[in-house]
Amino acid sequence: MEDKEMLHQSEFIGKSKWKLDTPCLVIDLDKLEKNIERMQAHAARFGKKLRPHAKTHKCSRIAAMQMEAGCVGICVAKVSEAEVLVNRGLRGVLITSPVVSDYKIERLMECQSRDPGLMVVVDNGSNVRKLNEVASSRGVKLNVLVDLDPGMGRTGVAFSDGVAMGQWIDRLPSLRLRGVQCYAGHVQHISSFDDRLRQSLHWMGQAGEVVRALRQKGLPCEIFTGAGTGTHEIDCRIPDVTDLQVGSYTMMDADYLSIGSSQNASRFENFPPALTLLTTVISVNHPGFVTVDAGLKALYKDGGTPYVLNPPGPGLRYEWRGDEHGKITISDSSVRLELGDVLEMVVSHCDPTVNLFDALYVTLNEVVTEVWPIDMRGKCQ
Ligand SMILES: Cc1ncc(COP(=O)(O)O)c(C=O)c1O
Repeated sequence: MEDKEMLHQSEFIGKSKWKLDTPCLVIDLDKLEKNIERMQAHAARFGKKLRPHAKTHKCSRIAAMQMEAGCVGICVAKVSEAEVLVNRGLRGVLITSPVVSDYKIERLMECQSRDPGLMVVVDNGSNVRKLNEVASSRGVKLNVLVDLDPGMGRTGVAFSDGVAMGQWIDRLPSLRLRGVQCYAGHVQHISSFDDRLRQSLHWMGQAGEVVRALRQKGLPCEIFTGAGTGTHEIDCRIPDVTDLQVGSYTMMDADYLSIGSSQNASRFENFPPALTLLTTVISVNHPGFVTVDAGLKALYKDGGTPYVLNPPGPGLRYEWRGDEHGKITISDSSVRLELGDVLEMVVSHCDPTVNLFDALYVTLNEVVTEVWPIDMRGKCQ
């Protein structure tokens, strides 16, 4: 981000968050710190490690906080995200999607030269051969994990091919097999906790069998990483799981908050929303609704229904009204919204919403204390 731009944003430090220029994203530092501590303590209680996913916050400052809290490394989805973290001095990065093109493999190896502990997942024999050749030409060993497909059909090999893939990697001189990844993305948001529990134990249990088979054959498999926020409690019951690669728990969103948890069948209250969006009323010319300045370009249209947190109460409902605008319908006649009023909202889906902004305004007791660049924003290569 341009320094000039950051300077402009830092004008708001010391001011009330209600004075921020909207639409903008706000992080409640107290909630963020508690979410990070809570997940860290949860993993420790079950003897698991935390390798959180930075795809949610896309912010190296938050990744550094997670490392300070005791996690063993940070996951990213893309090489361009890994570059940001490695350039900021973070180590132990895991790239959770296969890296296949020649150009990206070169960039991957550049990252590996700075972070020799860097790992990447693989799910294809010819990709494995290519990675081995490139690592060999550089005289290094590249750490890899076998990506297992938990019936999602996105990336990963079938469970039945996991051991053969591990054996193939282990035979190649410039690759170091470290273990497996199995991320059941299709299970994370299942509304009923009991259904989610059954599904996750089913898929992650099968991945655990692959892990045991690899170990029985004497193959190195010290890492079995998986789990998202929705299954963080469940996957700890799988003894073979070593690492949780949870992401959304830091910030949270309407999507996650609406699913059931082990404590409450209709609400996921384990982590409060640290991320909110501020939006301003910019037009009030109709009875029963007003127009706000956050539309598709500020609030990603995917996942749960975004909702108004402040002013509190059920009387206000958000709807997208195109690229730049949203509609707030007022169903409670005691609520009045005036031109210039600022509303605070819980976003629909945190990951793609964060990717729409340059900065996070950090607040303590509603006062802006810092501005953090979303420095992995737009890094989708
Ligand atoms: C491979 C992978 N790991 C971990 C995560 C984090 O999951 P969650 O945000 O549900 O905690 C994601 C999220 O999409 C993912 O794609």
